[in-house]
Amino acid sequence: MQSGLDTVSQPNRRIVLLSKREIEKMRRAGRLAAQLLDYLEPLIQPGISTLELNDEAERWTRERDAISAPLGYQGFPKSICTSVNDVVCHGIPNAKQILREGDIINVDVTPILDGFHGDTSKTFFVGTPSAKAKHLVEVTEECLRRGIAEVAPGKRVGDIGAAIQEYAEGQGFSVVREFVGHGVNKVFHTEPQIPHYGKRGTGPKFRPGMTFTIEPMINEGKAATRVLPDKWTAVTVDRKLSAQFEHTLVVTEDGVEILTLAD
Ligand code: MF3
Ligand code: CO
Ligand code: CO
Repeated sequence: MQSGLDTVSQPNRRIVLLSKREIEKMRRAGRLAAQLLDYLEPLIQPGISTLELNDEAERWTRERDAISAPLGYQGFPKSICTSVNDVVCHGIPNAKQILREGDIINVDVTPILDGFHGDTSKTFFVGTPSAKAKHLVEVTEECLRRGIAEVAPGKRVGDIGAAIQEYAEGQGFSVVREFVGHGVNKVFHTEPQIPHYGKRGTGPKFRPGMTFTIEPMINEGKAATRVLPDKWTAVTVDRKLSAQFEHTLVVTEDGVEILTLAD
Protein backbone atom coordinates (compact mmCIF):
# COMPACT_ATOMS: atom_id res chain seq x y z
CA MET A 1 0.00 0.00 0.00
CA GLN A 2 0.98 3.63 -0.32
CA SER A 3 2.54 4.97 2.86
CA GLY A 4 0.97 7.87 4.75
CA LEU A 5 3.09 8.92 7.66
CA ASP A 6 0.12 10.45 9.51
CA THR A 7 -1.03 7.04 10.73
CA VAL A 8 2.38 5.47 11.39
CA SER A 9 2.63 6.99 14.85
CA GLN A 10 -0.95 6.31 15.93
CA PRO A 11 -1.54 4.17 19.03
CA ASN A 12 -2.12 0.44 18.96
CA ARG A 13 -5.83 0.52 19.70
CA ARG A 14 -6.87 0.93 16.05
CA ILE A 15 -5.21 -2.38 15.22
CA VAL A 16 -7.67 -5.27 15.05
CA LEU A 17 -6.89 -8.59 16.82
CA LEU A 18 -8.53 -11.59 15.16
CA SER A 19 -10.30 -14.48 16.93
CA LYS A 20 -9.21 -18.11 16.46
CA ARG A 21 -12.10 -18.59 14.04
CA GLU A 22 -11.11 -15.53 12.01
CA ILE A 23 -7.47 -16.62 11.95
CA GLU A 24 -8.55 -19.99 10.53
CA LYS A 25 -10.31 -18.11 7.71
CA MET A 26 -7.14 -16.06 7.12
CA ARG A 27 -5.22 -19.36 6.97
CA ARG A 28 -7.55 -20.66 4.24
CA ALA A 29 -7.34 -17.44 2.22
CA GLY A 30 -3.57 -17.33 2.67
CA ARG A 31 -3.13 -20.94 1.56
CA LEU A 32 -5.24 -20.24 -1.53
CA ALA A 33 -3.10 -17.20 -2.39
CA ALA A 34 0.09 -19.26 -2.13
CA GLN A 35 -1.41 -22.03 -4.26
CA LEU A 36 -2.33 -19.45 -6.90
CA LEU A 37 1.31 -18.30 -7.14
CA ASP A 38 2.34 -21.96 -7.41
CA TYR A 39 -0.18 -22.40 -10.23
CA LEU A 40 1.15 -19.37 -12.13
CA GLU A 41 4.88 -20.09 -11.68
CA PRO A 42 5.34 -22.63 -14.54
CA LEU A 43 3.47 -20.29 -16.92
CA ILE A 44 6.10 -17.58 -16.41
CA GLN A 45 8.19 -18.20 -19.54
CA PRO A 46 9.48 -16.09 -22.45
CA GLY A 47 6.59 -15.31 -24.84
CA ILE A 48 3.68 -15.16 -22.37
CA SER A 49 1.93 -11.82 -21.88
CA THR A 50 1.17 -10.37 -18.48
CA LEU A 51 -2.53 -10.29 -19.48
CA GLU A 52 -2.45 -14.06 -20.03
CA LEU A 53 -1.09 -14.47 -16.48
CA ASN A 54 -3.87 -12.19 -15.21
CA ASP A 55 -6.58 -14.13 -17.02
CA GLU A 56 -5.27 -17.48 -15.77
CA ALA A 57 -5.24 -16.10 -12.22
CA GLU A 58 -8.77 -14.72 -12.50
CA ARG A 59 -10.14 -18.02 -13.86
CA TRP A 60 -8.30 -20.12 -11.23
CA THR A 61 -9.59 -17.86 -8.44
CA ARG A 62 -13.23 -17.95 -9.58
CA GLU A 63 -13.13 -21.73 -9.93
CA ARG A 64 -12.33 -21.86 -6.19
CA ASP A 65 -15.22 -19.55 -5.21
CA ALA A 66 -12.84 -16.76 -4.35
CA ILE A 67 -12.67 -13.14 -5.52
CA SER A 68 -9.65 -11.24 -6.88
CA ALA A 69 -9.34 -8.31 -4.45
CA PRO A 70 -7.32 -6.06 -6.81
CA LEU A 71 -10.02 -6.06 -9.55
CA GLY A 72 -11.82 -2.73 -9.16
CA TYR A 73 -9.93 -1.86 -5.95
CA GLN A 74 -9.67 1.94 -5.98
CA GLY A 75 -10.14 1.65 -9.74
CA PHE A 76 -7.36 -0.91 -10.38
CA PRO A 77 -8.38 -2.50 -13.70
CA LYS A 78 -7.05 -6.08 -13.42
CA SER A 79 -7.02 -9.09 -11.06
CA ILE A 80 -3.31 -9.27 -10.18
CA CYS A 81 -0.29 -6.97 -10.25
CA THR A 82 2.56 -7.87 -12.62
CA SER A 83 5.68 -5.75 -12.06
CA VAL A 84 8.49 -6.33 -14.58
CA ASN A 85 12.16 -5.21 -14.18
CA ASP A 86 12.17 -1.51 -13.17
CA VAL A 87 8.51 -1.65 -12.07
CA VAL A 88 8.47 -1.45 -8.28
CA CYS A 89 4.83 -2.50 -7.75
CA HIS A 90 1.26 -2.21 -9.07
CA GLY A 91 2.14 -3.07 -12.68
CA ILE A 92 -1.04 -3.53 -14.73
CA PRO A 93 -1.29 -6.71 -16.83
CA ASN A 94 -1.35 -5.94 -20.56
CA ALA A 95 -1.70 -8.03 -23.73
CA LYS A 96 1.17 -6.14 -25.39
CA GLN A 97 3.62 -6.79 -22.56
CA ILE A 98 5.38 -10.04 -23.51
CA LEU A 99 7.89 -11.53 -21.08
CA ARG A 100 11.42 -11.94 -22.43
CA GLU A 101 14.39 -14.07 -21.48
CA GLY A 102 16.25 -12.42 -18.59
CA ASP A 103 13.31 -10.37 -17.26
CA ILE A 104 12.33 -10.44 -13.60
CA ILE A 105 8.63 -10.23 -12.74
CA ASN A 106 6.87 -9.82 -9.43
CA VAL A 107 3.41 -11.39 -9.40
CA ASP A 108 1.23 -10.12 -6.54
CA VAL A 109 -2.06 -11.92 -5.84
CA THR A 110 -4.81 -11.32 -3.28
CA PRO A 111 -7.77 -13.69 -3.35
CA ILE A 112 -10.65 -13.07 -0.94
CA LEU A 113 -12.03 -16.34 0.45
CA ASP A 114 -15.03 -16.35 2.79
CA GLY A 115 -14.52 -12.61 3.34
CA PHE A 116 -10.81 -12.72 4.26
CA HIS A 117 -7.76 -11.66 2.20
CA GLY A 118 -4.61 -13.66 1.46
CA ASP A 119 -1.96 -11.27 0.09
CA THR A 120 1.34 -12.66 -1.26
CA SER A 121 3.86 -12.01 -4.00
CA LYS A 122 7.11 -13.37 -5.35
CA THR A 123 9.63 -12.21 -7.93
CA PHE A 124 10.28 -14.82 -10.62
CA PHE A 125 13.01 -15.14 -13.23
CA VAL A 126 12.01 -15.41 -16.88
CA GLY A 127 14.54 -17.91 -18.20
CA THR A 128 18.07 -17.40 -16.87
CA PRO A 129 18.74 -14.22 -14.85
CA SER A 130 21.81 -11.98 -15.05
CA ALA A 131 24.11 -12.15 -12.02
CA LYS A 132 22.90 -8.74 -10.79
CA ALA A 133 19.21 -9.67 -11.11
CA LYS A 134 19.86 -12.94 -9.26
CA HIS A 135 21.66 -11.12 -6.44
CA LEU A 136 18.88 -8.52 -6.09
CA VAL A 137 16.12 -11.12 -6.02
CA GLU A 138 17.96 -13.33 -3.51
CA VAL A 139 18.64 -10.36 -1.23
CA THR A 140 15.00 -9.27 -1.42
CA GLU A 141 13.73 -12.72 -0.43
CA GLU A 142 16.22 -12.74 2.45
CA CYS A 143 14.90 -9.30 3.50
CA LEU A 144 11.41 -10.78 3.84
CA ARG A 145 12.81 -13.72 5.87
CA ARG A 146 14.71 -11.38 8.18
CA GLY A 147 11.67 -9.15 8.61
CA ILE A 148 9.49 -12.12 9.55
CA ALA A 149 12.11 -13.28 12.07
CA GLU A 150 11.61 -10.02 14.03
CA VAL A 151 7.91 -10.66 14.70
CA ALA A 152 6.87 -11.81 18.20
CA PRO A 153 4.61 -10.44 20.97
CA GLY A 154 6.26 -7.50 22.72
CA LYS A 155 8.56 -6.64 19.82
CA ARG A 156 7.72 -3.64 17.63
CA VAL A 157 6.92 -2.80 14.02
CA GLY A 158 10.14 -0.76 13.73
CA ASP A 159 12.19 -3.90 14.41
CA ILE A 160 11.08 -5.30 11.03
CA GLY A 161 12.11 -2.21 9.08
CA ALA A 162 15.45 -1.93 10.85
CA ALA A 163 16.36 -5.56 10.09
CA ILE A 164 15.39 -5.21 6.42
CA GLN A 165 17.09 -1.86 5.90
CA GLU A 166 20.36 -2.98 7.54
CA TYR A 167 20.58 -6.08 5.39
CA ALA A 168 19.51 -4.50 2.07
CA GLU A 169 21.78 -1.48 2.38
CA GLY A 170 24.65 -3.70 3.56
CA GLN A 171 24.32 -5.55 0.25
CA GLY A 172 24.53 -2.24 -1.66
CA PHE A 173 20.80 -1.97 -2.46
CA SER A 174 18.11 0.52 -1.35
CA VAL A 175 14.71 0.22 0.33
CA VAL A 176 11.58 1.77 -1.22
CA ARG A 177 9.87 4.25 1.13
CA GLU A 178 6.61 5.12 -0.66
CA PHE A 179 4.99 1.68 -0.33
CA VAL A 180 4.74 -0.32 2.90
CA GLY A 181 3.28 -3.51 4.34
CA HIS A 182 -0.13 -3.27 5.98
CA GLY A 183 -2.69 -4.78 8.29
CA VAL A 184 -4.92 -7.18 6.33
CA ASN A 185 -8.04 -9.09 7.38
CA LYS A 186 -11.57 -8.56 6.05
CA VAL A 187 -10.10 -5.22 4.91
CA PHE A 188 -7.39 -5.25 2.21
CA HIS A 189 -5.29 -2.39 3.59
CA THR A 190 -5.63 -1.32 7.23
CA GLU A 191 -3.55 -0.46 10.30
CA PRO A 192 -0.74 -0.95 11.08
CA GLN A 193 1.54 0.28 8.32
CA ILE A 194 4.72 -1.80 8.11
CA PRO A 195 7.64 0.24 6.74
CA HIS A 196 10.59 -1.76 5.40
CA TYR A 197 13.04 0.76 6.90
CA GLY A 198 13.30 2.35 10.33
CA LYS A 199 14.53 2.05 13.88
CA ARG A 200 14.39 -0.82 16.39
CA GLY A 201 12.14 -0.30 19.41
CA THR A 202 9.80 2.11 17.61
CA GLY A 203 6.22 1.78 16.35
CA PRO A 204 3.29 -0.35 17.55
CA LYS A 205 3.91 -3.47 19.66
CA PHE A 206 2.98 -6.85 18.22
CA ARG A 207 0.11 -8.69 19.96
CA PRO A 208 -1.26 -12.18 19.29
CA GLY A 209 -4.01 -12.09 16.65
CA MET A 210 -2.59 -9.18 14.62
CA THR A 211 -2.52 -10.00 10.90
CA PHE A 212 -0.41 -7.99 8.48
CA THR A 213 1.90 -8.21 5.48
CA ILE A 214 5.62 -7.67 5.08
CA GLU A 215 6.42 -6.87 1.44
CA PRO A 216 9.83 -5.26 0.96
CA MET A 217 10.55 -3.59 -2.38
CA ILE A 218 14.33 -3.45 -2.83
CA ASN A 219 16.04 -1.46 -5.59
CA GLU A 220 19.29 -2.15 -7.37
CA GLY A 221 20.01 1.59 -7.57
CA LYS A 222 18.40 4.56 -5.82
CA ALA A 223 15.29 4.20 -3.64
CA ALA A 224 13.26 6.88 -5.42
CA THR A 225 10.10 5.85 -7.27
CA ARG A 226 7.54 7.60 -9.46
CA VAL A 227 4.08 6.62 -10.66
CA LEU A 228 3.41 6.51 -14.41
CA PRO A 229 0.53 8.49 -16.00
CA ASP A 230 -1.67 5.35 -15.75
CA LYS A 231 -1.86 6.34 -12.02
CA TRP A 232 -0.77 2.85 -10.83
CA THR A 233 2.54 1.61 -12.24
CA ALA A 234 5.33 2.60 -9.85
CA VAL A 235 8.82 2.55 -11.40
CA THR A 236 12.32 3.31 -10.17
CA VAL A 237 13.32 6.88 -11.08
CA ASP A 238 16.73 5.63 -12.28
CA ARG A 239 15.05 2.78 -14.24
CA LYS A 240 17.24 0.15 -12.55
CA LEU A 241 15.77 -3.13 -11.31
CA SER A 242 13.41 -3.54 -8.35
CA ALA A 243 12.32 -6.79 -6.66
CA GLN A 244 9.66 -7.67 -4.07
CA PHE A 245 8.44 -10.60 -1.96
CA GLU A 246 5.36 -10.59 0.29
CA HIS A 247 3.75 -12.80 2.91
CA THR A 248 0.66 -12.40 5.09
CA LEU A 249 1.42 -13.20 8.76
CA VAL A 250 -0.35 -13.66 12.09
CA VAL A 251 1.28 -12.91 15.43
CA THR A 252 1.01 -16.00 17.68
CA GLU A 253 1.44 -16.36 21.47
CA ASP A 254 5.14 -17.08 21.04
CA GLY A 255 6.11 -15.74 17.63
CA VAL A 256 4.66 -15.62 14.14
CA GLU A 257 2.92 -17.89 11.63
CA ILE A 258 3.18 -17.38 7.86
CA LEU A 259 -0.36 -17.64 6.46
CA THR A 260 0.57 -17.57 2.77
CA LEU A 261 2.21 -20.99 2.46
CA ALA A 262 0.79 -23.58 0.06
CA ASP A 263 0.74 -26.55 2.51
N1 MF3 B 1 -1.42 -6.66 -3.37
C1 MF3 B 1 -0.91 -5.31 -3.25
C2 MF3 B 1 -0.34 -5.20 -1.86
O1 MF3 B 1 0.49 -5.99 -1.54
C3 MF3 B 1 -1.95 -4.27 -3.46
C4 MF3 B 1 -2.45 -4.18 -4.82
S1 MF3 B 1 -3.65 -2.99 -4.86
C5 MF3 B 1 -4.01 -2.91 -6.48
O2 MF3 B 1 -0.73 -4.48 -1.00
F1 MF3 B 1 -5.06 -2.19 -6.55
F2 MF3 B 1 -2.99 -2.44 -7.11
F3 MF3 B 1 -4.25 -4.12 -6.91
CO1 CO C 1 0.21 -7.90 -2.38
CO1 CO D 1 0.10 -6.26 0.51
